[in-house]
Amino acid sequence: MRMIASLSLAVLAFAPFAIAAQSNSVASALSSPRMALKAPSAPPQVVALTPPMGWNSWNFFAERVTDKDIRAAADNLVATGMKDAGYVYVNIDDTWEGERDATGLLHTNEKFPDMKALADYVHSKGLKIGIYSGPGTKTCGGYAASLGHEEQDAKMYADWGIDYLKYDLCSFIPDVMEKQAPGDKAAQMKLMIAAYEKMGAALKATGRPIVFSLCQYGWDSPWEWAPALGGNLWRTTGDIDAHWDRIYTILEQQDGLAKYVGPGHWNDPDMLEVGNGKLSLAENRSHFSMWALLAAPLLAGNDLPNMKPAIKAILTNKDVIAIDQDALGKQGKKAYSDGEVEVWTRELSGGALAIAVINVGSDRYSTHPFLLNLQRLGLVGTQAGKNLWTGKDISLTNRMPLEIPSHDILLVRIASPKMAP
Ligand code: GLA
Repeated sequence: MRMIASLSLAVLAFAPFAIAAQSNSVASALSSPRMALKAPSAPPQVVALTPPMGWNSWNFFAERVTDKDIRAAADNLVATGMKDAGYVYVNIDDTWEGERDATGLLHTNEKFPDMKALADYVHSKGLKIGIYSGPGTKTCGGYAASLGHEEQDAKMYADWGIDYLKYDLCSFIPDVMEKQAPGDKAAQMKLMIAAYEKMGAALKATGRPIVFSLCQYGWDSPWEWAPALGGNLWRTTGDIDAHWDRIYTILEQQDGLAKYVGPGHWNDPDMLEVGNGKLSLAENRSHFSMWALLAAPLLAGNDLPNMKPAIKAILTNKDVIAIDQDALGKQGKKAYSDGEVEVWTRELSGGALAIAVINVGSDRYSTHPFLLNLQRLGLVGTQAGKNLWTGKDISLTNRMPLEIPSHDILLVRIASPKMAP
């Protein structure tokens, strides 16, 4: 891919700053633009009241995606029951873009002959449609992006009937940040935030409810400033891929971010890889369970027309989806870890509690059988719950031994947890 090579270079060149941006000095250098963005003008949220659910073309099709694939995805969301399970957004990722004409209007390329007709088709299935661009001159794939055409593009999306925009930083780094503020990382971050604010305002000005998804890899704590500029979700990390190590690395990076989410604004640990690559069933289950526990957007990224029944069963597990979509909108947290086992919990509406016990290790070590410590979760006595992967009732007791195979998970919903006084 011509594009990805240059993206990697840009990202690599910027990587040291990704770390530096976490430091207090940079945070304080940026305090003034954040203050301005935190003004009481945060737009009322009418979209993404629960984490968005749907499908995105990138993780399986990448740059090969066509109009036909998007229609097939829409058809299959309906045929497989995924639409009924809550997956409504059909999102076209990068590589749909053609060239701008003399008026600046961006045309689609030959893979997408008629975007309005495609949007109408997706809508005719009772689904919604998403699209992709970025604040630079080029997208990550090297296609035309929105720099200098933000209002024009937002209006075009609204005219097409677009319901969701993923806005990906990429070439804005060399195009604007490094050019306009060479060596001044704080000033570069201000430029980045302003670029997202600009598209947020352009989308708002269309009057159409459009989910605004920020894709800038979690640089400079977007959870602190994205909601005020209309962001409904923001990537918290670099790209996911269909390997357990990458999924686990991303999972660990979510710890500590729970306090930033709520109805209308969500951390995005990236799209699902369930059903992709060589992930085992246990890994697919754990990945899906943990994204639900994190109140993450559930954007499937697999080959829907060829989905295996076991993958469909994971993606359509209504109990697990209900954890993700819980109306309270609280993200789960890691309670503790012990050896290769981690225990995470998520508070749910009605006083319920989800507990995930996951074996993140590549094998079973000395901690097996793992003795579940309910006291460390603030619970006392026997807890009656439902095992969300077997569908059976389960009673959790303190110090009960659990055998959890490598990369597998026990996910339990306790309707009425007995909390320590
Ligand atoms: C970046 C994003 C990915 C995908 C590609 C498309 O890498 O993080 O999710 O959108 O660009 O080029």
